[in-house]
Amino acid sequence: MSAIVAPAPAGSGLTAVPRVQRNGILEIMAMRRDPFAYGAARRAELGPVSGLNALGIQTVTAAGADAAGEVLMNKDRAFASGPAWSYFIGPFFNRGVMLLDFEEHRHHRHIMQEAFTPAALKGYMQEMSPLIADAMGRFPTGRVLMLDEFKSLTLDVALEVFLGVELSRDRAERLNKAFIDTVRAGVAYVRAPVPGGRWWKGLRSRKVLEEFFFEQIPAKRARATPDLFSVLCHAESDEGHRFSDEDVVNHMIFVLMAAHDTSTITMSQMAYRMAAAPTWQEAARAQSQELDGHLGYDDLARLDVLDRVMKESLRLCPPVPAQPRMAVKDTSVQGFFVPKGTIVSIPQLTNHRDPELYSDPDTFDPDRFGPERAEDKSHRMAWIPFGAGVHKCIGLYFGQMEIKTIMHRLLRGYEWSVPGGYEMPMDYSALPVPKDKLPVTMRRLSAAGR
Ligand code: HEM
Repeated sequence: MSAIVAPAPAGSGLTAVPRVQRNGILEIMAMRRDPFAYGAARRAELGPVSGLNALGIQTVTAAGADAAGEVLMNKDRAFASGPAWSYFIGPFFNRGVMLLDFEEHRHHRHIMQEAFTPAALKGYMQEMSPLIADAMGRFPTGRVLMLDEFKSLTLDVALEVFLGVELSRDRAERLNKAFIDTVRAGVAYVRAPVPGGRWWKGLRSRKVLEEFFFEQIPAKRARATPDLFSVLCHAESDEGHRFSDEDVVNHMIFVLMAAHDTSTITMSQMAYRMAAAPTWQEAARAQSQELDGHLGYDDLARLDVLDRVMKESLRLCPPVPAQPRMAVKDTSVQGFFVPKGTIVSIPQLTNHRDPELYSDPDTFDPDRFGPERAEDKSHRMAWIPFGAGVHKCIGLYFGQMEIKTIMHRLLRGYEWSVPGGYEMPMDYSALPVPKDKLPVTMRRLSAAGR
């Protein structure tokens, strides 16, 4: 008999989940090398729902939009986010809102929502716009590593808009490094604090971040300022509940992590796609040039070419490539039996290329998001780069606002290209990033264009 995750209870009408029999670590390595080829081969071999034992846990991958809906909408409250994500990032992003569940999650998210109202977003936009305009005036030309530039720019925005503190470049770099190490730690093969290893660096970096935030709290509590840190210190639910100092620190560390790499990855993808398909770059630039350099929050909706480019980039490479959940009771997905304690993963990276939902799914084709085709609406889980259900990204409007503001300025001031035939090499070992940091040739347009 072939391997299964667990036998389905007699009389339940459910089917046992088939399981990969090969070495789990080798499987994960193959998945990280080429998630698309790996996903297709596994699906062909075992079907859309299949299990794997690796890194000491049992995971079930539930592919397809229907399975995504069942797990993420979680009608039966059978799946929890915290215990699943904790396995990867728990020690480093302790008690971030994505690691909380059910009532506790609802309570924290409700208070946090105060920091993401349209009024709050407009305030952040006002803070970030001049900073972005200034940085764009100084954007390097010649051979530029786009990933590095976007990282440093989003870090500057984060320091201003999230933290509202002025830091020396040195201190900002140290904080940035601490973030990177905490994020990378989650995908370590060696999941123990061996000195010098990823896990160990992650734990040390978490301490650096905690110390930094705790040190700033008294000043933030004392005076309300327009940054997210201050908003979280003062946010109050309708019932008058507020965050404790520990809550604020945990949420700040988590939100910074959640915001930083995701936006950077999206912009790198957009820059790559628009370099490889210059007609899209020109079309987006033409629209940006019709508008003013300085955009208000409500103007962003007018950048519809850029919007389609962004959506298509998020489809082809969602920065959060999978969403894990843990079954907190015996349950089922798509008629398959899932025992309590199993991690069920929704592979949105490969789901986003489902040929049943998208025509020619590997091709960059932003027009698929236009009103005539609206392929993203073919299923309510067809396009979910920001997730779905109660844990859906709280920063989705913030993220899009920042990304569009930066790309709008970049398009107005510069044009960029990659050599013909260039394909961006991807590292899928943690969040998906270009291995070569996306080198482009950047040329400044006339100053009048900015
Ligand atoms: C393009 C940018 C972004 C993408 C693609 C993205 C993607 C996601 C996804 C997929 C989730 C859900 C994960 C799950 O359900 O397992 C999520 C959650 C979250 N994101 Fe984002 N995100 C982005 C930007 C941001 C920004 C800018 C912020 C903050 C300002 C942010 C804050 C959060 C938070 C706090 C959660 C957890 C929500 C909860 O559990 O209730 N994200 N994000």
